[in-house]
Amino acid sequence: MSVPILTFFNNKGGVGKTSLIYHLAWMYASLHKRVVAVDLDPQANLTAAFLDEESIEALWGQPTIGSTIYHSVKPLTGVGDIVEPVLQQIAPDLYLIPGDVGLSTYEDALSNEWPSSMGDNNLYRPMRILSSFWQVMQMAAQKVGADIILVDIGPNMGAINRSVLIATDYVVIPLGADLFSLQGLKNLGPTLVSWRNLWHKRRDNWQNSADHANYPDFLVPEAKMQPIGYLCQQHGVRLDRPVKAYDKWVNRIPSVYREYVLKEAIVPNLTPEQDPYCLATIKHFRSLVPMGQEHRKPMFNLTSADGAIGSHAVAVKGARDDFKKLAELIAGKIGLSL
Ligand SMILES: Nc1ncnc2c1ncn2[C@@H]1O[C@H](COP(=O)(O)OP(=O)(O)OP(=O)(O)O)[C@@H](O)[C@H]1O
Ligand SMILES: [Mg+2]
Repeated sequence: MSVPILTFFNNKGGVGKTSLIYHLAWMYASLHKRVVAVDLDPQANLTAAFLDEESIEALWGQPTIGSTIYHSVKPLTGVGDIVEPVLQQIAPDLYLIPGDVGLSTYEDALSNEWPSSMGDNNLYRPMRILSSFWQVMQMAAQKVGADIILVDIGPNMGAINRSVLIATDYVVIPLGADLFSLQGLKNLGPTLVSWRNLWHKRRDNWQNSADHANYPDFLVPEAKMQPIGYLCQQHGVRLDRPVKAYDKWVNRIPSVYREYVLKEAIVPNLTPEQDPYCLATIKHFRSLVPMGQEHRKPMFNLTSADGAIGSHAVAVKGARDDFKKLAELIAGKIGLSL
């Protein structure tokens, strides 16, 4: 049985993907679900949120086999095979597969194998490379008995992200309230559909190939990529702009999401607050953000010793309530019992 993989994706950058994954990973772990967080963004911001600079320097300076996601898949580009990842334990139920700036060099291998995987023979290697992220993530999840895998990726439609989405069961789309986010959403919906269809063709081609019988233990992902909803970010709002501008963009989201992502009929005059596909509106957490980063903690775990007193302490509780509610809502949508 494979462990469910949840990816936060939008090709518009800076919409809070990394911050959301970081906080949800901590929240699920505190609710006693075992989490593997995976940093598949070559910018490695999630890794920087979890680990201090010395630890990252050691990981990247003296890499060992499987020490980052890149070092788990890299042997495939030579004559080797996937290597079991070495997980970083962050908390009792929270593990990280660290990211790696070097991962960007894997983009070429993924691009090259995409056409090869539709050939008539020698399909094992291309299929192994294209599904390598899924293989590594499932290995990690089996190793620690994880309940859920949470994945952070960068904001683009490249070959790395295609392979991550192929590995993904559920997609959450964080959005800012601006033209760029809405335009991103219009591109993203059709891209997900296309990636899913193209992978299914490859999976069928593999299953009907002569090679298939030679590798009975080799499983490939389903590429379910089920969109479970979107999140509206308030923190991207420029405070010098009139509020109307925020409402103008945010109120367009329900229609664009239905039309481009779900291919469902538009519901006229529906606002995100009324929209069941809107999982949450994420508040601007203001000074809690740098405070959490400084103490390398989720905002909702800040204490008076960290400086969270008075109104900050109230905000910490608010953040805890918000992330708990979001974690419960997502768990319900993906069938994860808490
Ligand atoms: N709820 C929030 N309130 C205030 N600031 C936030 C909030 N969420 C994220 N931020 C800040 O916004 C910036 C962008 O967030 P983040 O890095 O999580 O976005 P991202 O979508 O992962 O970006 P990228 O596309 O570059 O990977 C960061 O500086 C982060 O600290
Ligand atoms: Mg990010």
